[in-house]
Amino acid sequence: MADHWEEVQKKLDTIREKQLFRETRSYQGIDFCSNDYMGLATNPSMLEFFQSKKEIYPFGSTASRLVRGNSTSMEQFESEFASFVEGEAALLVSTGFTANFGLLDSIAAPDCYVFTDRLNHASILDGIRISGAQKKYYNHLDLNHLRSLLEKADVEDSTGKKKRIVVTESLFSMDGDSPDLKTLLSLKKEFGFVLVLDEAHAFGVYGPMGKGLVFQDLSSSEIQSIDYRVYTLGKSLGLEGGIIVTKKMGRDHLVNVMRSFIFSTAPLPMISKLASFALSLLRSMDKERENLLAMAKELKDSLKQNGFLITNSTSHIVPILLDTEKQSLFYAAYLQDAGLDVRAIRPPTVPTPRLRLSLNAKLRLEDIHHLVKELVLLREKWNSL
Ligand SMILES: Cc1ncc(COP(=O)(O)O)c(C=O)c1O
Repeated sequence: MADHWEEVQKKLDTIREKQLFRETRSYQGIDFCSNDYMGLATNPSMLEFFQSKKEIYPFGSTASRLVRGNSTSMEQFESEFASFVEGEAALLVSTGFTANFGLLDSIAAPDCYVFTDRLNHASILDGIRISGAQKKYYNHLDLNHLRSLLEKADVEDSTGKKKRIVVTESLFSMDGDSPDLKTLLSLKKEFGFVLVLDEAHAFGVYGPMGKGLVFQDLSSSEIQSIDYRVYTLGKSLGLEGGIIVTKKMGRDHLVNVMRSFIFSTAPLPMISKLASFALSLLRSMDKERENLLAMAKELKDSLKQNGFLITNSTSHIVPILLDTEKQSLFYAAYLQDAGLDVRAIRPPTVPTPRLRLSLNAKLRLEDIHHLVKELVLLREKWNSL
């Protein structure tokens, strides 16, 4: 039998050779990489609320939500959230990963087809995998390709016995782009699939009061026809947690079958209290949202003018595409030394190496100019090596 630690050592050696070794590191420098898009993680009013109400107590939830871990603040937050995004019901879980993973595992099974954008988040792909469903990848954002796969499935399973599920992010975290939601909803009407939409990176930034991209692009009846919407508290709400919005019956079903919900300690009670408060702040941050999108436009224009290759980003997430893993590490290290917190994102997280620039409402225009200036200097340095 192969020695386990020898095997681990070999794996690590290979990862290092490919320039793919990762390490945890404390943060420092101006934030160009977090998902705290509205700056709520360090919002002074959040701190004041937290301190004044002794929101920290009790510390732990002590059990799963089906045992003693449930609290009224969790249910209150769920109903506030559901009504904010105009859904019937919501289920709070410990992370967005848990939400996607558990949801897909709960609604899919080996006799289902699940159609997934090739670049969907790992929590979605792993949920499909664990469910045993037949996974059908469509090319990133290519809804014509999705249509052709749906048509093929109709031929393969002409009696329509197998359930069809389509799952996509509304805003892709590593590319900053979005599917055409109108077309997606018209495909849903035509083919009658179950739709799961992950609004993790859009919530808080887009739509009226930050309600998400669906509120920017879809009619109210189209929004109501989406079977499941997934959100996280770890991005624009500045906290930690996941929330699934669905019908009341959908919530009852998940409470009864979702293993990552049933067999895990409930989120800390303070999270739901803080989340309700964060939601109340988020609603009135239109000025910050406007400012954030203006900075994103400035960054994209300026990067293009300076000859950087970026993705087709339509958002505040602006990835710069690079040639090699080594280059991405060099760029990130240089920028970090200059006090700018930019991280290299490499395979297998993404197919090609990049710097994922994600902007937040706390940045100022001069930070954007500073970043671009450093990038230009850095490129000269790299080219002269
Ligand atoms: C699209 C998407 N969904 C879900 C998640 C997982 O959310 P969380 O970080 O709350 O576990 C992420 C994490 O980055 C994500 O990008």
